[in-house]
Amino acid sequence: MKKIAVAIDGPAAAGKSTVAKRVAEILNFTYIDTGAMYRAFTWYCLEKGLDCQDEKACVAVIPEVKIELKPGHIVLCNGQDVSKEIRLPRVSQNVSYIASYKDIRLALVELQRAMAETSSVIMDGRDIGTYVLPNAEVKIFQIASVETRAIRRYDENISKGIPCTLEEIEEDVRRRDYIDSHRDFAPLKPAADSVLLDTSFMNVDEVVNEVLKIIEQKMKEKVNA
Ligand code: CDP
Repeated sequence: MKKIAVAIDGPAAAGKSTVAKRVAEILNFTYIDTGAMYRAFTWYCLEKGLDCQDEKACVAVIPEVKIELKPGHIVLCNGQDVSKEIRLPRVSQNVSYIASYKDIRLALVELQRAMAETSSVIMDGRDIGTYVLPNAEVKIFQIASVETRAIRRYDENISKGIPCTLEEIEEDVRRRDYIDSHRDFAPLKPAADSVLLDTSFMNVDEVVNEVLKIIEQKMKEKVNA
């Protein structure tokens, strides 16, 4: 079978990764969490004591940082498993600054594209359909109201034992959406050929089924084209 790429973009905490993981399992595609890569880079800068709003300082460490995504949703930074640390509030609060620096994006996008070369992938992020994989066979832009997204992320954090309040989460989500969609290079926006999926009133199973339907439909259209 021909290699297929599915791009899922959208604002913070829209549930993209939950859905992408499930769809990847069902279709036996490789799941690539690009947000985890920006988070791992941010974690490294914070560990080094850098100010994440200091572009020059953060860009300077690019050659020191090796990020790998391993099976089982494991994220390695220079060989260290940082899968849990990258979800902590201090990383969430700083990641959108790191993700706005062009040189850091270029370095991570190179890795992301290389990962999509060898197998069928489902990749989630902010700029997958517009910039990382502009030729992806399927592009989905997944949204939900900010209140719904904040509740989803709050529940997720609490279940993982990450202390937070709903107010803090909502503020973080709004702030990241603003920075992500206003940066100069590869901002968050729907690709012209993406399917908009509003999940505000859908549960995970319903979203997974909808995404599977969209993929099937797009593949049929390609065969008939
Ligand atoms: O899961 P959540 O929606 O909280 O975010 P994420 O996918 O883990 O991404 C964390 C942050 O990384 C985002 O807020 C963006 O600033 C950045 N990001 C990006 O700029 N481009 C991507 N392709 C993926 C993430």
